[in-house]
Amino acid sequence: MVYIYLPIIMCYCMQVHISSVGQDKMRITWITKASTKPIVYFTETAGVYQNSVLGTSSSYNYMTYKSDEIHEAVISPLKPDTHYFYRCGENSTKEYFLKTPPAEFPIKFAVSDAHMFSIFHIHTILLNFQCIHNAGDLGQTEWTNSTLQHISQSNYDMLLLPGDLAYADFLQSLWDSFGRLVEPLASKRPWMVTQGNHEVEKFPLFHKEPFTAYNARWRMPFEESGSTTNLYYSFDVAGVHVIMLGSYTDFDFESPQYKWLEADLRKVDRKVTPWTVVIIHAPWYNSNTAHQGEKESDDMKKSMEVLIFLARVDIVFAGHVHAYERFTRVYNGNQDNCAPVYINIGDGGNREGLATSYENPKPSISVFREASFGHGELDVVNATHALWTWHRNQDDQPIVSDSVWLRSHSSNPICT
Ligand SMILES: [Fe+2]
Repeated sequence: MVYIYLPIIMCYCMQVHISSVGQDKMRITWITKASTKPIVYFTETAGVYQNSVLGTSSSYNYMTYKSDEIHEAVISPLKPDTHYFYRCGENSTKEYFLKTPPAEFPIKFAVSDAHMFSIFHIHTILLNFQCIHNAGDLGQTEWTNSTLQHISQSNYDMLLLPGDLAYADFLQSLWDSFGRLVEPLASKRPWMVTQGNHEVEKFPLFHKEPFTAYNARWRMPFEESGSTTNLYYSFDVAGVHVIMLGSYTDFDFESPQYKWLEADLRKVDRKVTPWTVVIIHAPWYNSNTAHQGEKESDDMKKSMEVLIFLARVDIVFAGHVHAYERFTRVYNGNQDNCAPVYINIGDGGNREGLATSYENPKPSISVFREASFGHGELDVVNATHALWTWHRNQDDQPIVSDSVWLRSHSSNPICT
């Protein structure tokens, strides 16, 4: 009997992750096997739960698969830069804690893509096995933990993820095991994500709707920025306007996404948010030989580059290519001091492997490129300066391999 009930207890309230909803709210998302009241209790003082919020529950179908119960509740009001304890679900006694982002500078973002999820992918099957059968040996768990620790030790305030989360690719149980694997980090700090190609999951004839699992499991605060879809949105945090774009939804001049981006950029007040950062999945600049000529890169760039250039966006992060590359400030293929810095942080290691082949000679606009595992940290110190560092992860300790101080366009008279 122990072997029957232990896994059920283990998996009762699981896959907890949080995402910011405006300045003083946090969405808590979690999954249970059985239907339960979608309530979250939260407090600043451990063990004394005076506040509670009732949320909503849903599930989805994907061909023959039916998801477990997906719950979410938005807790508020929350103070900035403050630790809270919380419990999700009426019967769960497990206590989680989170820290809200600061309301003012400095703020530190972790930026990461497929490299760690590739490792997750290896372990998803193992963890599935654990959850169902309570098997104890996770094989390369220390390696996985080490990768997670590199990010958690950075003491980041918020994770920005430019797509390709679970690499489920139609196998829906991998979304569940991914959720369990990221919970130790994603339950403590807001994880703000956008879509990659691995989230589309359309299956000819049998499942025509794209992003079914992604939208159901990783709901982001899109309504708050006037977006009508979870596939693109924006938010402000501590003086930074973050725009999450969708590489795999329409982006041409007539598209709703284009019109939304145009309106969103028009609303940015640089006195409130001196920095603007854009996240996409398929990179607009890339000197790796992988993923060249894809319309999600080339056509989206043709459509939207001028918008973000004229709006003086500071940085564009992308994923997709499993390598690291930092460009100088670029517009229309040429260096321009008032254009964004382009950084590709999709340095993989997943089942597709690292993308180790580069165009030669190196284009003059490419400053640094390397095919290694890693994650990035953007430490926005104040309204004028931010430190970007890229950390190689394949060694035991995170090693800073690339770093650069960036100045905000809003503080540069030439660009205002
Ligand atoms: Fe991708």
